Amino acid sequence: MSDELYDPVANPYAPGAGTPPPALVGRDQVIGAADVALRRLKSSRTSQHTLITGLRGVGKTVLLGKLAAVAEHVGFRVIRVEAVGGDDTIRSVLRQARRIVDECDAGAKVGRALRSIESVSLTVVGTGVAFERRAGRSDREALADVLVDIAAVAAEQDLGVMVAIDEAQMLDRHDLRRLLAGVHRCGQDGLPLYCVLAGLPNLVGEVARAATYAERMFTVADLGPLTPDQVVQAIVQPAEEIGVVWSSEATEMIVDHSDGFPFFVQTWAYHTWNAATGEPISPADVERAEPNVDQALDSSFFAARIARIPASEVAYVQALASLGPGPHRSGDVAAAAGKSTPQVAAFRDRLIAEGLIYAPRYGWVEFAIPHFDRFVRRALPTQS
Ligand SMILES: Nc1ncnc2c1ncn2[C@@H]1O[C@H](COP(=O)(O)OP(=O)(O)OP(=O)(O)O)[C@@H](O)[C@H]1O
Ligand SMILES: [Mg+2]
Repeated sequence: MSDELYDPVANPYAPGAGTPPPALVGRDQVIGAADVALRRLKSSRTSQHTLITGLRGVGKTVLLGKLAAVAEHVGFRVIRVEAVGGDDTIRSVLRQARRIVDECDAGAKVGRALRSIESVSLTVVGTGVAFERRAGRSDREALADVLVDIAAVAAEQDLGVMVAIDEAQMLDRHDLRRLLAGVHRCGQDGLPLYCVLAGLPNLVGEVARAATYAERMFTVADLGPLTPDQVVQAIVQPAEEIGVVWSSEATEMIVDHSDGFPFFVQTWAYHTWNAATGEPISPADVERAEPNVDQALDSSFFAARIARIPASEVAYVQALASLGPGPHRSGDVAAAAGKSTPQVAAFRDRLIAEGLIYAPRYGWVEFAIPHFDRFVRRALPTQS
């Protein structure tokens, strides 16, 4: 028998990675635009594709998942992958492409699609995509053909294909170029292929570098923090649905503590719910939740990231953190580390590749994780 006022099992909030929130707030415009884009593609009209960018915990994966659900609803088959370094991403794209082709009734275009999947498969070890005769040619460039050919197979069945790639800043630049070439050709041929790429803010630059025309193919949804009203809605609406009331002072406190970052909003709301002792949920309940929130953030969100920083890069991370919330000039970070900019360039580049920091514009850097500067100052104090 528990003595909580509010049942922790019924706690509606969803702190996590890619965990759908009980109220997905502030995204109606992006979702509405995607719905129109998908329907246009289905009726052989052209459309732009979507680039979702933003810092860690801002809701990119959740939005990608929502767009995938919208796509399925209007008759698209979805290829969804999270990019990791190496060939795993392409392996997964090929497997899912093969599955889509297999599920479609044998039409005229199927043989061609299978051949392009095979060409790329032969360049990647261990795709698990089996072919009866392995006599085809091996050609990584055929990745563009894979997209064009499966979109053609889908179109024959009055279906579309959505390619959704999360953490897309991790894609190999050549594979990104090949994929974009495929998306581009689908647009030229009037084929129903919709592409959504999600990643850290530097993804926009990566896409532009991969192909000169690519920028024009995408609408960028740069997700920032939620507005105060949206934070309140994210907290209050799911509670209201089950008859629980929050005081406005309590939600205001979470607006302040979270700075509008969705992951922090969910974490604060979740722990406050579990700590609450009165009706409505009050500022005292928020305060009571604080140690649990700090512990949850430190041990999961922040610690997982800091654990991956090699010792050689810690000094750079500490120097950046010592300057407070960013962005900061690369030169200032180097100076704070007692080094010159060229001396720290390799550390900066590696931290960017690991997704811990990013360059919002040339010559500037910032942590890709909200509030990370505070955490580093707390968890890794510099000896002085
Ligand atoms: N629009 C939203 N409204 C309310 N909560 C949200 C919203 N979007 C995401 N969240 C919550 O924020 C948290 C983080 O979401 P998500 O994992 O999608 O972020 P992300 O940007 O993909 O983070 P990362 O860069 O670490 O992968 C989840 O707990 C999710 O429930
Ligand atoms: Mg994510």
